Amino acid sequence: MKPKRKLTLSIMGIIVVISVLYWVFYTPNLADDEVAYVLAGGLTSRSAVVSFNTYRPAKVRVQVSTEAITFANSHYSAYTETIAENYNTSKVLLDSLQPDTQYYYRLEINDTIDAFEGYSGTFTTPKDGAFSYKVAFGSCMVTGSNSDIFEQIAREDPLLFISTGDLHYENINRNCEANFIQAYYRVFSSSAQSKLYRSTAFAYMWDDHDYGNNNSDASSACQQDAIAAYRDFIPHYPLAFQEDKAPISQTFSLGRVRFILTDLRSQKVKPEYDGCERTKVGTNFGSEAHMKWFQDQMLLAKDSGQVVVWLSGIPYINHEGGPNYDCDEDDDWGGFPEERQAIANFVKEHQIPISIICGDAHMVAMDDGSNSDYAEGGGAPIPVFHAAPIDRYGSYKGGPYSKGYRSRSGQYGTIEVEDNGGNEVCLTWTAKDKNGNVVQSNTEQELSYQFCLPISSDS
Ligand SMILES: [Fe+2]
Repeated sequence: MKPKRKLTLSIMGIIVVISVLYWVFYTPNLADDEVAYVLAGGLTSRSAVVSFNTYRPAKVRVQVSTEAITFANSHYSAYTETIAENYNTSKVLLDSLQPDTQYYYRLEINDTIDAFEGYSGTFTTPKDGAFSYKVAFGSCMVTGSNSDIFEQIAREDPLLFISTGDLHYENINRNCEANFIQAYYRVFSSSAQSKLYRSTAFAYMWDDHDYGNNNSDASSACQQDAIAAYRDFIPHYPLAFQEDKAPISQTFSLGRVRFILTDLRSQKVKPEYDGCERTKVGTNFGSEAHMKWFQDQMLLAKDSGQVVVWLSGIPYINHEGGPNYDCDEDDDWGGFPEERQAIANFVKEHQIPISIICGDAHMVAMDDGSNSDYAEGGGAPIPVFHAAPIDRYGSYKGGPYSKGYRSRSGQYGTIEVEDNGGNEVCLTWTAKDKNGNVVQSNTEQELSYQFCLPISSDS
């Protein structure tokens, strides 16, 4: 071999060895790679909760400011430690916020503020009292989905994004705690989802696949751990109940709308059937205390001059004669007619100004109340809006729906609240596809609907 060629080969060999050693032994600069995810929730006019996951145990606090670039006049949350026993995941409360203000936040890790984009986010606090705004919602996404639809939802610039269930499809029923942590990691660290969650505030109520198995209920093997994982790691609103196996139901107000998020999975007891004959009545709420809490919240809303958006993860409309009704229903309100009628009777008796948003069914669908009146003798025609699936396949459940439906992958919903402080609050519902276009229903109607609910004159 000629000396020149030998030298060339030697140099190439050295380069290869150095490259291999670099990839084997390189430890990323901690400042570049400390945070798996961060997101904010529990948004009120004066506070928010920020959850985060660090790759290693760390001392963390959150800096918050109204200035995106300079973080001038910032303040900080209390310190917290992320520890291995909690999978290096923690959350902090930001209080002393002002209403109607856009805030920017970022993490300080081990006494070092890091301006890396992935560590930071923004949200806007709601006004106190009447005001107009938009929220977006949807359910049913592939675990850790990186779909473009999340960027489209972020472009809506909603005050809040509500995940109405099936945030993942891990169907967890063993090795519960670790599996929930892993599922949250996959969801919140997905780059497309993370961009959405860091662009606005997040609220979340689970359905079956992200609580347990398909059509899961109170008997899920992971019931207690699912509840614990949600409480520990999700940035949520104050929960209605504190006991170990209690539901994660919660409520919050944005302007003069009270959102009631009911947990209809973790306490559910399914009906039983012998063929088509029901031999045991089921319950989605699971206890009188849970149902009473729901009714109290509806009444409180009305009496304090609010209207209600009730998040029922499962489809509300389904009954004998409906297009998808089976005689042994147990996965939507069609299998729980007594409990549904009790709710409808309460709405009728107290004249609750209410609308329903649903998940679970992989479709967008709207009903103006024509098909949803389950009160004894009628009198509770509640508008119903389904918005799904974010990026799972399409399916058609329940119904019929007066405005029609569309079961196709890549759909979400927006609710525009128009409230000038008068004697009603108006809502505009729009079902959209992944490009932000209004969805055409199966009956070729634009799936949007506007209606107004009265503010009680007694409030
Ligand atoms: Fe789903």
